[in-house]
Amino acid sequence: MTQRPYVIDVMISAKAIAARIEELCEEIQKEFGNTDKLVVVGLLRGSFVFIADLVRELDLPIEVDFLEASSYGDAMESSREVRILKDLRGAIEGRDVLVVEDIVDTGHTLNHVTHLLQSRNPARLKSIALLDKPSRREVEFRSDWVGFEIPDEFVVGYGIDYAQRNRNLPHIGKVRFTDEG
Ligand code: IMP
Ligand code: MG
Repeated sequence: MTQRPYVIDVMISAKAIAARIEELCEEIQKEFGNTDKLVVVGLLRGSFVFIADLVRELDLPIEVDFLEASSYGDAMESSREVRILKDLRGAIEGRDVLVVEDIVDTGHTLNHVTHLLQSRNPARLKSIALLDKPSRREVEFRSDWVGFEIPDEFVVGYGIDYAQRNRNLPHIGKVRFTDEG
C-alpha cells in the first residue's frame, strides 16, 4: 500500500499524558486496594507504551501479561471480526485483572476481549483505555477508566500506529493528510 502524504499535529502532549496517568493510578489503587493478585494485561501492540508508564506509576504488587487481538491490519478501517492472535501466558481464574488498551473505537475489540476473559472467571475484571472515541461506537462498551475522550480523528504516537509507523512519538498526534488541499 502506498502511503498518502501526511503530517502529524500534536493533540495530547507527553506532559498531559503523564499527568493524567498519575490521576488514573490513584483511582486504580483505590479500586484494587490491598490486592496481591492483580494481573495487568496489555493488548498488543498499541498499549505497550501506555502499560509501561502505567505500571511504573502503580504502587501495587502486580504481574504483567499480554494478549494480542486482530484489529485494523494495515488500513484505517476497523474489522468487526476480532480474533485472538496471541493469548495470555497465565491463568486468570480467581485473579484481579486490569485490561489496558490504547483506544476504544468501535468497541468490538474490548467487548470481545473482556467477554473472553470474563469466561475464565477472574475475581474482578476492569479495563482502562488511554483514548476513547465515543462517536465511533458500534457495540455498547464502556471502559472503567479513560484517559482522554477524543473526537473522530485518526491518531498516532505513544504506542499507536498508522500502518505500523509513528508508534515511537512521545505524544498523541493527529494525522492530517496533505493531499486533500
Ligand atoms: P475497536 O475494536 O474499533 O474499538 O478498535 C480498537 C483498535 O483500533 C485500537 O486498539 C487501535 O489498534 C485501533 N484504532 C482505533 N482508532 C485508531 C486510531 O485513531 N489510530 C490508530 N489505531 C486506531
Ligand atoms: Mg489495538
